[in-house]
Amino acid sequence: METQEKKIVSRGEFLRSLGMSSSALMAFYCMGTLTACSSKDDDPTPGGNTGGNNTNAVTGTTTGSNIDFTIDLTAYKEKNLKTEGEFAVIGDAIVIALSNQKYVALSKKCTHEGFTVGYRKAENDIRCANHGSEFKLDGSVQMGPAASPLTVFKTTLSADGNSLTVKA
Ligand code: FES
Repeated sequence: METQEKKIVSRGEFLRSLGMSSSALMAFYCMGTLTACSSKDDDPTPGGNTGGNNTNAVTGTTTGSNIDFTIDLTAYKEKNLKTEGEFAVIGDAIVIALSNQKYVALSKKCTHEGFTVGYRKAENDIRCANHGSEFKLDGSVQMGPAASPLTVFKTTLSADGNSLTVKA
């Protein structure tokens, strides 16, 4: 006489039994639980990202090849971009506040493998933490492995110093 055995399997085991790969499983879990699953590309660097409370502080196009956006520096809460040495990653750009109300903005993507770069105030340069590439503020490579410069965007500060436009 055969005994009927009930086996409790986890969702993962069940899905694996259907032949789903690990990445398919991850996609399934993300959809199923409605949790945020981010890729490496979305990963903010230390120093800033486009946090949710800045929605109204940044207007315009922040990603792609036609970057053209304006930051209300009085409303941008994640970082005080009126303070020398602060920086923020906004869309595809890194925006850095220098002394005397000067700003630079460059592509955030390291030209080596696309990791998001960060600003180093003490060295006054830009560094990629992934493999250690360093860039000058004019975008040029200071140290590899990156071989190509970062794209520099045009920055324009309003007369009252409260609004910064970044344009490709
Ligand atoms: S991705 Fe930036 S140094 Fe490799």
